[in-house]
Amino acid sequence: TVMVRRRMKRRRKWRKVVGILKDLEEACETPLGRLRQMVDAVAVEMQAGLVSEGGSKLKMLLTFVDDLPNGSERGTYYALHLGGSYFRIIRVHLSGQRSSLDVQDIERHSIPTSLMNSTSEVLFDFLASSLQRFIEKEGNSQAVKRELAFTFSFPVKQTSISSGVLIKWTKGFAISEMAGEDISECLQGALNKRGLDIRVAALVNDTVGALSFGHYHDPDTIAAVVFGTGSNACYLERTDAIIKCQNPRTTSGSMVVNMEWGNFWSSRLPRTSYDLELDAESMNSNDMGFEKMIGGMYLGDIVRRVILRMSQESDIFGPISSILSTPFVLRTNSVSAMHEDDTPELQEVAKILKELGVSEVPLKVRKLVVKICDVVTRRAARLAAAGITGILKKVGRDGSGGEGGRKRSHKQIMRRTVVAVEGGLYLNYKMFREYMDEALGDILGGKVAKHVVIKAMEDGSSIGSALLLASSHSVQTIPSV
Ligand code: GLC
Repeated sequence: TVMVRRRMKRRRKWRKVVGILKDLEEACETPLGRLRQMVDAVAVEMQAGLVSEGGSKLKMLLTFVDDLPNGSERGTYYALHLGGSYFRIIRVHLSGQRSSLDVQDIERHSIPTSLMNSTSEVLFDFLASSLQRFIEKEGNSQAVKRELAFTFSFPVKQTSISSGVLIKWTKGFAISEMAGEDISECLQGALNKRGLDIRVAALVNDTVGALSFGHYHDPDTIAAVVFGTGSNACYLERTDAIIKCQNPRTTSGSMVVNMEWGNFWSSRLPRTSYDLELDAESMNSNDMGFEKMIGGMYLGDIVRRVILRMSQESDIFGPISSILSTPFVLRTNSVSAMHEDDTPELQEVAKILKELGVSEVPLKVRKLVVKICDVVTRRAARLAAAGITGILKKVGRDGSGGEGGRKRSHKQIMRRTVVAVEGGLYLNYKMFREYMDEALGDILGGKVAKHVVIKAMEDGSSIGSALLLASSHSVQTIPSV
C-alpha cells in the first residue's frame, strides 16, 4: 500500500505539471484569425504613429534617410555597432560596384555586462578605446580622413542623419544620465579625448543598417527586421504619409521610418502570467511588451519561469534549484539547443538542465522541457510573422487591395517585395525561422507569399550602416513605395 500511495502521489504531481503545460499552450495560442487581427492592429498603429507624435505605442521614428545605397558608392568607411549583446567594428572599401564590396576587417566582441549599467563616460570611452585599437592595427596605410557610422541599436529621436538623442534604454541597458544626450556627440567627444581623427558622420539604428545592406544588394528591399537580443523593424514610407513631420525635405519622396516595434501593444496579444511576471520584474516594466515576447533576451527567461513554476508545484525537477530561480540564467541559445536536440535520450537537454542545477530528470520530463521551448518559440515566431505582414499591409504589399488603411476596389498587382532580416535569433535558431516562414505563408496565402522574399543577412546592420554613410556622399534616387 505504501507503494500504491507513492505511485498515486507521483501521478497526481505529473497531472499537475501536465496541467501547467496545457495552460501555457492555451495562453500562447496564435490561431490564424488572431494573427490576422494582429496584422490589422500593426497597420492601424503604424498609421496612428505617423499622424501624431505619441499617437501610438509605435514611435514611428524619423530617420532622415531618404537615399538608400545602390551599389555605386565609393570610398573607405568605418562602422561601430553597439547592439544588445555584442559590439562590432568594421571597415569596408567600396569601388563603385556592388560585386566589389570589400569588408576589409571585422571585429566582434561581447559587451561586458558591467558596461550596461556603468556611466556614459565609461561606455563611450570603452567604445573609443576599442576603435582606437582597431585603427592602430591598420598602421598608416589607410586614408587619413576617416568617417564612421555609429550603429546604435536603441531608440533615438534623430535630428539629422548624423545626430539624435536617446529616448530611453532598452534590452537591460541602464545608464542613467544618458537619456536626452546627443549620441553622436558623446561618441565624438570620447574619440576626440583619445586624439583619434575620425568623424562620426552617421547615426543609424540597426534595422536601418540592415535595410541599407539589403537595398544595396537588391533594390526591391523595402523593409528590414532585426530578431536579436531585442526586436525591431524599419521600412520605406512615402513622405506624404508621414503626417506628423511638417517639413519632410526629401528628394526621393520617401523616408525610412524606424518603427521601434518592440513597444507594439494590442489587447489581442496572447499574454501569459509568465509574461506579466517577467515584465513586472524587468528594468523597463510596462514598456516593450512585444519585444518581451519575441526578443532573444527574453525567450529563455520565459521558458525558465515555466520550468520554475513546475518545479515549485511538484518535485519532478527534484529540489528547487537556486540557479533556476535566477533571472536570465537560461539563455535563448540554450533554448534552441534543447529545442533542436535530436539525440535519442535528449542528452543536450539533460546537460543544460544540469547547468541549471537540475539533474537526473527522466526522459519524459526532458521531453516536457522541449515542449515548453516549442510553445514559447512558436508563439514568438508567429507573432513576428504577423508583425512583418502588418508592414506589408501598411505599404500595400500584402495582396489585400488596401494601402495604409484605404481600400481600393481593384486588386493589388503584386510586386516582388524583399524584407531583410538580421539578428542571432533568426540566423541561429532554425525552429524559429521555420515557424516564422510557415506563419507568413499561412497569413499571406500561397499566391501572395510567392512575391515576398525574406532575406537573411549576417552583419548586415553594421556593414549596411557604412554603406549608408557612403551613399550620403553620392547622388542617387530611390523608387517611391
Ligand atoms: C530594441 C531597440 C531597437 C533595436 C532593437 C533590435 O528594440 O529599442 O532600437 O532596433 O532592439 O536591436
